Amino acid sequence: MDTRRILIINGHPDAAPARLCAALSEAYAKGALACGHEVRRVCLGSLDVPLLASQAEFDTAPPAHLAALQAELHWAEHLVLVFPLWLGGAPAKLKALLEQLMRGGFGFQTEAKGMSARLGGRSARLIVTMGMPAALYRLYFGGQGVMSIERGILRLTGISPVRDTFFGGVSTASPARRRAWLDRVETLGAKAA
Ligand SMILES: Cc1cc2nc3c(=O)[nH]c(=O)nc-3n(C[C@H](O)[C@H](O)[C@H](O)COP(=O)(O)O)c2cc1C
Repeated sequence: MDTRRILIINGHPDAAPARLCAALSEAYAKGALACGHEVRRVCLGSLDVPLLASQAEFDTAPPAHLAALQAELHWAEHLVLVFPLWLGGAPAKLKALLEQLMRGGFGFQTEAKGMSARLGGRSARLIVTMGMPAALYRLYFGGQGVMSIERGILRLTGISPVRDTFFGGVSTASPARRRAWLDRVETLGAKAA
């Protein structure tokens, strides 16, 4: 099997290792490293992410520590984004990070003839945890908050395919169910999928 360069972003604003998102990020990395993939990791909870305030800012490069993260994304062939569902979508700090990463035409550029994607040749996996049952979010809510990241950001940059994995009922899940989730994510890591 070919090995891949994987960037794992733990997109939980809380950096505490006790969070399920931290454990899932760890499980993905474990599976990937065991199969020889190259892994780099970022923890949103430990990052300083300023809020973007204008088109003028968006058109320029981000602060140096976030430009370094753009370089990590450029290095990666596969992006893994792990985050909790907060009020139907990504936590505000994660949205702020994605806005910063897209700065300066990094992800796409608007040209006279339309949009030009800058991150083609990469794939992504979104791993999302939530309090409600995952099927309820997917079917009743249409998975909209996650879809806005999938289609409104990642696919616009040319990243494809973008796949997702939802884990619901998190607060009431038994230890055995959590273990099964971690095993499933470790397997995804092994396949770099
Ligand atoms: C501010 C906030 C908003 C939340 N909003 C939702 C929501 O809209 N839908 C949902 O199913 N769960 C919601 N939850 C529950 C979280 O998704 C759940 O606690 C999280 O996925 C657990 O993972 P963690 O241990 O990594 O934090 C919310 C939790 C918080 C703290």
